[in-house]
Amino acid sequence: MGAGPAGLLLSHLLARAGVESVVLERRSREYVEQRVRAGVLEHSTAALLDACGVGGRMRREGLVHHGIELRFAGARHRVPLTELAGGRSIVVYGQQEVVKDLIDARLAAGGRIEFDTEAVGIEGWEGTGGATPAVHFVDAAGRAGTLSCDVVCGCDGAHGASRAAVAGRARVFSHRHPFAWLGILAEAPPATEELIYCRHDRGFSLYSMRSPTLSRLYLQVEPGTPLEDWPDERIWDELAARLHVEGWEMSVGPIVERSVTDMQSVVVEPMRFGSLFLAGDAAHVVPPTGAKGMNLAVADVRLLAEALVPLLQAGDGSLADEYSARCLRRVWRAQELSTWMTMMLHPLTGEDFNGRLQLARLDHLVHSEGASRWLAENYVDLTGGAGLVTGA
Ligand code: APR
Ligand code: PHB
Repeated sequence: MGAGPAGLLLSHLLARAGVESVVLERRSREYVEQRVRAGVLEHSTAALLDACGVGGRMRREGLVHHGIELRFAGARHRVPLTELAGGRSIVVYGQQEVVKDLIDARLAAGGRIEFDTEAVGIEGWEGTGGATPAVHFVDAAGRAGTLSCDVVCGCDGAHGASRAAVAGRARVFSHRHPFAWLGILAEAPPATEELIYCRHDRGFSLYSMRSPTLSRLYLQVEPGTPLEDWPDERIWDELAARLHVEGWEMSVGPIVERSVTDMQSVVVEPMRFGSLFLAGDAAHVVPPTGAKGMNLAVADVRLLAEALVPLLQAGDGSLADEYSARCLRRVWRAQELSTWMTMMLHPLTGEDFNGRLQLARLDHLVHSEGASRWLAENYVDLTGGAGLVTGA
């Protein structure tokens, strides 16, 4: 269930191993291909896309980055990621581009993706008794149907049918951060070669990009802020005020997309209920500060495919039994990194003492090689570097 990065990549990995699947997606193909999300691929994520044959366009069009900038107290500090993280780097490539590449690959291989088809209920998994799992859906024409299967993979995001199905049985850990991000996509050449994470007393801002002509920027805003309160001029003025440093100039251009996202952390435990497996945002949400969302989804389905193939082809459930615990160890590590970055970079209104602590933490981070190395290793390759995918 779900044609985001998790569901599509899982379907692709399973097909390569000879396991048939059907992807049900409630939105249209156009919608999922245009949906703007984050865009930082960890070293291991990019390597997996290469290894399974869907990395071609990412390698041609993605931007390889070897460092990030931390900007605070009016000064710029470069964290040399590649140097500190054993030669590894990140690729800046929009999530919806990964989604397009995966859809193309599945359809070219004759895979089934049912767009405009919403899963409305799941039965036959551990929570509902019966032995044969089935997904009830409503298709584009409004017709109800049922799909019988061996296992159901809930890759349907934070608001999907699988999260709803396990609600009474799962333990859900959640935390709502007291701010939101206003994100924009602007037709302006990036005014920086590397991502800038900027802490300012007015609030956090992030300068990212999608191509040599498209900038992606974010501003910390109050949760629930109406978009109407943010006309173009106010957005650019606020970005300029927060990002200002001597000798650096921001480029401005037409804003072609904008949205406000709440910042929250969620973990659902466990990630498996009999024949229902959760992966990606259906199982966990991280605040976007560490750019880990898509990387976690990819790491989940890599393990899930490795577990389902022996289960379905040879009745060997040993890896399936380990799936949840192996994922959750990595997920909590990512929650820790994302929360730590979030708390260090987002000032809280009226909390001056906390603001000074943030500056002290940043000062330590950029002047301690050990602290910078910790950030670099986790930012560049949290899922692969510590053996959190391979289980090493
Ligand atoms: N039936 C079918 N499809 C559904 C249903 C449903 N009941 N509910 C949701 N979906 C679809 C959504 O429309 C979406 O396309 O499931 C898909 C889930 O995709 P994502 O939200 O992209 O989640 P995931 O694949 O886990 O990828 C995680 O997405 O939100 C970002 O930051 C997050 O980068 C991370 C990534
Ligand atoms: C993005 O490019 O959208 C992006 C980059 C880094 C983040 C979050 C989002 O931490």
